[in-house]
Amino acid sequence: MAAPFPAGGRHPGWPARLGALRVGSGVVALRPVRLRDGPAWSALRLRDEAHLAPWEPTMPGTWAQRHSSAEWPGRWMLLRSAARKGTALPFAITVDGRLAGHVMIGNVVREPLLSAYVGYWCDRSLTGSGVTTAAVALAVDHCLGAAGLHRIEATVRPENVASRRVLEKLGFREEGIFRRYLDVDGAWRDHLCYAMTAEEVPAGGLAGRLVSTGRAQRA
Ligand SMILES: CC(C)(COP(=O)(O)OP(=O)(O)OC[C@H]1O[C@@H](n2cnc3c(N)ncnc32)[C@H](O)[C@@H]1OP(=O)(O)O)[C@@H](O)C(=O)NCCC(=O)NCCS
Repeated sequence: MAAPFPAGGRHPGWPARLGALRVGSGVVALRPVRLRDGPAWSALRLRDEAHLAPWEPTMPGTWAQRHSSAEWPGRWMLLRSAARKGTALPFAITVDGRLAGHVMIGNVVREPLLSAYVGYWCDRSLTGSGVTTAAVALAVDHCLGAAGLHRIEATVRPENVASRRVLEKLGFREEGIFRRYLDVDGAWRDHLCYAMTAEEVPAGGLAGRLVSTGRAQRA
């Protein structure tokens, strides 16, 4: 049985630091996003526009405007406020201590659903080395464990082979397709829905399975 929603505005499992797992490109860990991430966040997001924009929701303003360092404090405050209300767990991915992306657990709904979605992005220069798979494993183990959730959902464009592979490596089930689900990169796009419930997490967790199958090492 999941822990009840605690008094004081914080939800179980937040704030948290998770990890670490070693993959080919370094040591992967998760921590809450923080105000001083601004310059590193902006530099990565500006450099990686071509890598990220095809998969992210359409928003007002140019990419450059939306990812200047000056944008981060406002975004961070919204994320911190959602985390304090218990509707999100906004994690920064670090590799060897440096910001390398985000794992966002959003739309947290408590009883009776105990459900949330997971979204993520990773520094293009680190892709293909297992960083995001390790990071999502840590986050999902935490959400379906200490944070007391029962179901984690992920929606992904059918064309996003790398993202689908992350979910499939972790054992997410493909449940169906949501038609014209989200306005991404300028048009309403179909998205596949993947999900995992607490019953599907193996003994030792998703991170444990990455370790036992040789995809990561405890660090
Ligand atoms: C999707 C994304 C987060 C993956 O991050 P990552 O750290 O490279 O992920 P991993 O290395 O853990 O796993 C990626 C897998 O996809 C595979 N892959 C990548 N591109 C591929 C392609 N074009 N065809 C087939 N497989 C591909 C990799 O080989 C790897 O699988 P493997 O371990 O079996 O070799 C990253 O590419 C990204 O930030 N993309 C842009 C934002 C995005 O799409 N976010 C998700 C929205 S749903």
